[in-house]
Amino acid sequence: MEDGGEGLRFRLAPAKVTIASYPRKQEWKVTMKTTGNTILITGGGSGIGRGLAEAFHALGNHVIIAGRRKQVLDAITAANPGMTSLALDIENRVNIRSFAGQMATRYPALNVLINNAGIMRVEKLQAQPDDLADAESIVATNLLGPIRLTAALLPLLQKQPRSAIMNVSSGLAFVPIAPTPTYCATKAAIHSYTQSLRYQLRASTTEVLELIPPYVATNLLNGASDPRAMPLDKYIAEVMDILKTQPAAVEICVENVKGLRFAAESGHYDSVFRGLNEAMANVSH
Ligand SMILES: NC(=O)c1ccc[n+]([C@@H]2O[C@H](COP(=O)([O-])OP(=O)(O)OC[C@H]3O[C@@H](n4cnc5c(N)ncnc54)[C@H](OP(=O)(O)O)[C@@H]3O)[C@@H](O)[C@H]2O)c1
Repeated sequence: MEDGGEGLRFRLAPAKVTIASYPRKQEWKVTMKTTGNTILITGGGSGIGRGLAEAFHALGNHVIIAGRRKQVLDAITAANPGMTSLALDIENRVNIRSFAGQMATRYPALNVLINNAGIMRVEKLQAQPDDLADAESIVATNLLGPIRLTAALLPLLQKQPRSAIMNVSSGLAFVPIAPTPTYCATKAAIHSYTQSLRYQLRASTTEVLELIPPYVATNLLNGASDPRAMPLDKYIAEVMDILKTQPAAVEICVENVKGLRFAAESGHYDSVFRGLNEAMANVSH
């Protein structure tokens, strides 16, 4: 469950942001095609990952979905002939290494990695268990997971004539909600890491994108039936439209997330932070 969706827009300062505010690709940089790719989507068994998987599959890409729940993955590949799956626990560094080895063997044409798998948990910072198990799981899954998987697959991606890495962050990377502190911190960190990765790869043929969702109706934190969340099908349609029509964008921001993404740039950060946190004070699942 995240904020920044339609129902809370009235609380957010209007994002007076022009297209020039976006980070943009260098002129010569390759543009991720939306067809003809071999695409790995972590967390492709549900929510945003599944939505992207089905949209890319419908466009004629070979999509491989990965996650822990084999039954869930099997149901989706059965419903989408040609789509394939591979089990992955991105919290587990050993598993990531063997997974990357299997990917290289089975899918040597892999040219797009979408780091989408993630977890979101409420944490009460004044009443935490000694082992900080939730905080450690969130960091391992949302931050170390994409870092490790990117490192393991980068050599394969860079063998291809053109390739792309898309990291999924969040509007909450830019304005955190206090009930989910480690989650928001991992998303801010992924935003930062993505910028460095993009800069280090600037002279290569691997482009680096960041998908920045608003509050979208999925089961991430029981938000699937929250009327304030953006419907998943509308979100995926807007994302695919941006990918097709705005090839220079490196941050994929639907309209609903701009209030959060550009809160600081708009000069309204404090009021956006306050409004968002007042609205989300009761998050407790
Ligand atoms: N929904 C929102 O409002 C929202 C807003 C901003 C950003 N996001 C981001 O969007 C991404 C997708 O979230 P979602 O909303 O689509 O939620 P979701 O439906 O719960 O999807 C999360 C996916 O991650 C996978 N996953 C979790 N832990 C994993 C692990 N250890 N190893 C491998 N896969 C794992 C899950 O599959 P298994 O359980 O089968 O492993 C699941 O398919 C996340 O990174 C989330 O932070 C979501």
